[in-house]
Amino acid sequence: MMRILVTGGAGFIGSNFVHHVIEHSDHHVTVLDKLTYAGNRASLAGLPESRVEFVQGDIADHPVVDALMSRADAVVHFAAESHNDNSLDDPRPFLETNLIGTYTLLEAARRHDVRFHHISTDEVYGDLALDDPDRFTEATPYNPSSPYSATKAGSDLLVRAWVRSFGLRATLSNCSNNYGPRQHVEKFIPRQITNVLRGVRPRLYGTGENVRDWIHADDHSSAVLAILERGALGETYLIGADGERSNVAVVRLILELMGQDPDAYDLVTDRAGHDRRYAIDATKLRRELGWEPRYRDFRDGLDATIGWYRAHEDWWGPAKDATEAFYASRGQ
Ligand code: NAD
Ligand code: DAU
Repeated sequence: MMRILVTGGAGFIGSNFVHHVIEHSDHHVTVLDKLTYAGNRASLAGLPESRVEFVQGDIADHPVVDALMSRADAVVHFAAESHNDNSLDDPRPFLETNLIGTYTLLEAARRHDVRFHHISTDEVYGDLALDDPDRFTEATPYNPSSPYSATKAGSDLLVRAWVRSFGLRATLSNCSNNYGPRQHVEKFIPRQITNVLRGVRPRLYGTGENVRDWIHADDHSSAVLAILERGALGETYLIGADGERSNVAVVRLILELMGQDPDAYDLVTDRAGHDRRYAIDATKLRRELGWEPRYRDFRDGLDATIGWYRAHEDWWGPAKDATEAFYASRGQ
């Protein structure tokens, strides 16, 4: 049994991880979350109070972080500003949370000798050509494109430096695009599902040919738990489930599953610096830790996700109008 501090545990993947840990282990969890626009206390509803404690606070707030770290065995660090489009509009919060916040956690973990797992993204590797036969591996050089991915790359390098210079007991993981319940409506899949639910046509950036490598958030969680419990210290693991799809293919499938004409979408202004394709080779994770994804059928996983958004307008409705106003101001 470990006492795990989970930063960003009220966000999309962090909350999924907390649910996963409670269901599949006997660990105790303390969530530290600032509850920014992306955090939602309701995402942790129904979890046993005896096993999950919630603390509202900033990962860049040294006294708060130090106190929590002093009574943790491990920290799993999800908290981040996570949306590329926001980072193009105002990069500053990305530097504050993703860099200074991570630095604050690293120093506290070093002081209290706490096992550290850092959650990162495949975006640190930049992008691939649509027809490139290669995929990202742990050896791919860093080449981030956006303010978001540059700060995530910076945070990864800080963790690696703390391992090498201070002997921090840390692992890192870089995962591909997640989908599933409780994802903010600013992100691609929930935006399109909730648009259709509101009678609005989905919006594809540019030509819609960009490719993302989709994994269910619960599979990301099982991989992180495996790395935390059995991963080799100092190592990086790529997490992915062989889920490459073009954006237009995903939109057409959403429309079909929701009983609409698959061509009933609009092409809108492209994202500046839009990465063309991400693709993960997760051989190391599979071979060394024996991890396998549970959600192998994207159509089924997407259908269940659509069902979740249909049933939970109370969760996503309050954020929808402000999110769409932001996109409208950008011609998207
Ligand atoms: P999210 O935006 O849904 O959630 C982020 C959470 O962090 C929110 O609850 C927010 O309140 C909290 N937070 C933000 N700033 C904070 C601060 N200063 N102090 C404390 N809490 C703060 O993000 P997500 O999509 O769940 O991503 C979680 C992590 O996974 C991020 O590190 C992201 O880079 C990484 N990741 C995401 C994906 C993806 O597809 N979404 C893929 C790979 C990696
Ligand atoms: O690859 C992992 C990354 O995946 C994570 O690090 C990020 O935190 C997460 O947000 C995600 O980044 P993307 O930029 O790939 O995700 P997003 O949901 O913003 O967009 C997915 C794709 O869909 C991308 O090619 C842009 C496109 N898109 C997005 C929106 C919101 C559209 O075509 N239309 C849209 O309305």
